[in-house]
Amino acid sequence: MMEGMLATGQTFMTDAVQETTDLTVLLVDDNPQNLKVLYETLKDRGYRLLIANGGGKALDLAYRHTPEVILLDIMMPEIDGYKVCQLLKSDPVTADCAVVFLSALDDVDTKVRGFALGGADYISKPFQAQEVIARVQTHARVIRLERELQARNRQLENDQARILNSISEGIYGLDNEGRIVYANPAAAMIMRTSAAELIGQNFFEFHFGRPDQDLADLPAHATCCRGQPENQRNVELFRADGTRFPAEYCSTPKWDGDQFHGAVVVFRDITVELKNEQALEEARKLVQEQRDQLAHVSRMTTMGEMAAGVAHEVNQPLTAITNYSRVAQRLIAKDQPDIGLLSETLGKIEAQSHRASEVIRRIRRFMKKPAAGKEVLSLAALLEDTRRFAEVDIRNNDGGIEVTVADDVQNVCADPVQVQQVALNLIRNALEATRSAGSSEPVRVSVTMADSQFVRVDVVDSGVGLAEEDEAKLFLPFFTTKEEGMGIGLPTCRSLIQAQGGVIGYQRPDPGDDSGGASRGACFYFTLPVAAPGIDGAAPVCGSSGV
Ligand SMILES: Nc1ncnc2c1ncn2[C@@H]1O[C@H](COP(=O)(O)OP(=O)(O)O)[C@@H](O)[C@H]1O
Ligand SMILES: [Mg+2]
Repeated sequence: MMEGMLATGQTFMTDAVQETTDLTVLLVDDNPQNLKVLYETLKDRGYRLLIANGGGKALDLAYRHTPEVILLDIMMPEIDGYKVCQLLKSDPVTADCAVVFLSALDDVDTKVRGFALGGADYISKPFQAQEVIARVQTHARVIRLERELQARNRQLENDQARILNSISEGIYGLDNEGRIVYANPAAAMIMRTSAAELIGQNFFEFHFGRPDQDLADLPAHATCCRGQPENQRNVELFRADGTRFPAEYCSTPKWDGDQFHGAVVVFRDITVELKNEQALEEARKLVQEQRDQLAHVSRMTTMGEMAAGVAHEVNQPLTAITNYSRVAQRLIAKDQPDIGLLSETLGKIEAQSHRASEVIRRIRRFMKKPAAGKEVLSLAALLEDTRRFAEVDIRNNDGGIEVTVADDVQNVCADPVQVQQVALNLIRNALEATRSAGSSEPVRVSVTMADSQFVRVDVVDSGVGLAEEDEAKLFLPFFTTKEEGMGIGLPTCRSLIQAQGGVIGYQRPDPGDDSGGASRGACFYFTLPVAAPGIDGAAPVCGSSGV
């Protein structure tokens, strides 16, 4: 191939002559002699050389091989160098080639015209070999770097486009008047239209669709106009077809130095998310309702268990009332009734009926469903009430119940009925364990500050205690070691205390002196959050986080 091209001198072939390099130089001259000189000058320099003896051939080769540099003779028959240059520059495929004009006309006008057409340089004939080499080298290097840069930019743009195209969130680029200047495919899909349809629309008019609305209140407006970033959930946007959907969006200002050019808005459709949240909320409510019901059932059970004690407790004052009434009647039947004694007897009747109604009152308070919710509570008062209630049940317990409250104990924030239920459950378990052990030690209830945030209640007994392997099962539903037990007391206690924001647990008691003794007792405890202090010395308050 090479031979064919050079040997004849007159009939140069016009194809690649040197395949060793990635830099291509196209030599164009209608004079074979000139071509030969150029070829000789540049050969063996690592270029791939192409040769054309006329304008038409030059265009064809340039289009096919996109050479980095073209040495282009100006004066040629048919298509001259200027025309070739103009055509090359107007075709994107060849526009970036460096065109170096070759001409014997060494005047300013010729050069200016060449540059005006996009020429990169100019070499005067007759050529100086060193000049040709130097210029080709320079231009070839510049063009190569430029092409590499362009290729890299293209790659980068492709990467970015791929990322933007594959994101499932919708992305808008807005100018600072709110016009959509960019929309990714996800945005178009969410809006049920094409990206082309979205571009040019005003974001605010298109998606909020009420011309009378104050634009300043609309999402992303502050970002577009004042560069303030925003983030909102559950705003309603119109789609292209007029339907609406709830969205979450975040808008960020587009800055260029200290100038800002509108906003980027990233958004997504949260219809499904909201539905799921609603379903979750409903499920949570259902669980809460069931928990309340279970707690209530458990209270009824406790009452059932306490029925005998209650009957006894009410029966005593009733018997006393009957007796005192008889005494009163006898007093009245006398000729001169002793008014003083009569009044005293009536007083006793009143006291006994108070005693009976006190028991009834406690039962009623205990049985009611906790509609009131959390309030600020004094545990001292509540536990005292619970103690009296529990005592209805302890005719067989010698030791009784002792309640001690440390001086620094603060009020708690809790539901009184639920806390009383927990305390009563723990105390009754303790009493039963004490009774089974045949012990006469009292059940000790103590109230202390666990830390600055929580009050702790301990219920300690000297009863039968627990086998170690049972400790882990205590709070599981239906775990019981009692013949008539139900095993729902402790699990209910746990859910009630958790609902108050506290914890409940079992602590193995200190073995003490008689370690190894069967009757080692048990210690159950629970905590409750202290009520937040009122502002400016006002009464403490309960958070609104109802359960
Ligand atoms: N103070 C205690 N001392 C020893 N064992 C206890 C004590 N409190 C609870 N338990 C154990 O935990 C089990 C579960 O208690 P609970 O849930 O109240 O159900 P129940 O009292 O109906 O058995 C009891 O059966 C008992 O084995
Ligand atoms: Mg129990």
